[in-house]
Amino acid sequence: MRTYITEDYQAMSRRAAHIIAAQVHLNPACVLGLATGSTPIGMYKQLIEWYKAGDLDFSQVKSVNLDEYAGLAPTHDQSYRYFMQTNLFDHINIDPANTNVPSGLAADPAAECRRYNQVIRDLGGIDVQVLGMGHNGHIGFNEPGDAFELETHVVDLQESTINANARFFASRDDVPRQAMTMGIKSIMLARQILVVVSGEDKADIVKAAFTGPVTPHVPASILQMHPNVVLVGDKAAMSKL
Ligand code: F6R
Repeated sequence: MRTYITEDYQAMSRRAAHIIAAQVHLNPACVLGLATGSTPIGMYKQLIEWYKAGDLDFSQVKSVNLDEYAGLAPTHDQSYRYFMQTNLFDHINIDPANTNVPSGLAADPAAECRRYNQVIRDLGGIDVQVLGMGHNGHIGFNEPGDAFELETHVVDLQESTINANARFFASRDDVPRQAMTMGIKSIMLARQILVVVSGEDKADIVKAAFTGPVTPHVPASILQMHPNVVLVGDKAAMSKL
């Protein structure tokens, strides 16, 4: 695992953006696995800036997102499709047809997960998968449990995740109870994984995930078994490593 410790969130975002930009330069038709959440927003801003300056071309890039809430329309401002449009896709020259997010409105979420697995396979797998990490060690919506889940699947969200997400909805009752997420196998099959972490509140889970035992009770701990992980964090998040 390669580890970068940066001064602050902005430097973390720049470093992570450099890693994505390098991938796009070296392999213009690469498949990027993308994440939502607050942590990668600065990285996306940086990529947009470089695109606008003429330094990056996304015209051949393909993307697959980690997850989506079940039941939210792509136009819902809390859907992950909406997040990706507003934080990245609408500002760069990626072909909309090349962007993939599980469909929140799929009538049969389990069938949608099967379709999504096929999408990833048809793309030939993921070149770089961006991951944030939840306070309980979740990656995507793979919550702590007794086993590692495999491919894209439907999950019932845990109370702690519903509570953490409640701030983004008008009320706690509006937070979806289910999501579709790539599984641990889908994530582990990515050729490279870029984990971004920021803030002191992530320090304990960063330590548990990367120096503790590999266990489904800390889903991110499985990343210790991946041959090509880059961990980029600011010094607050990395302070207990
Ligand atoms: C996002 C995702 C989540 C987040 C995680 C961390 O697509 O799947 O696992 O990466 O909840 O979120 P932030 O970055 O807001 O701390």
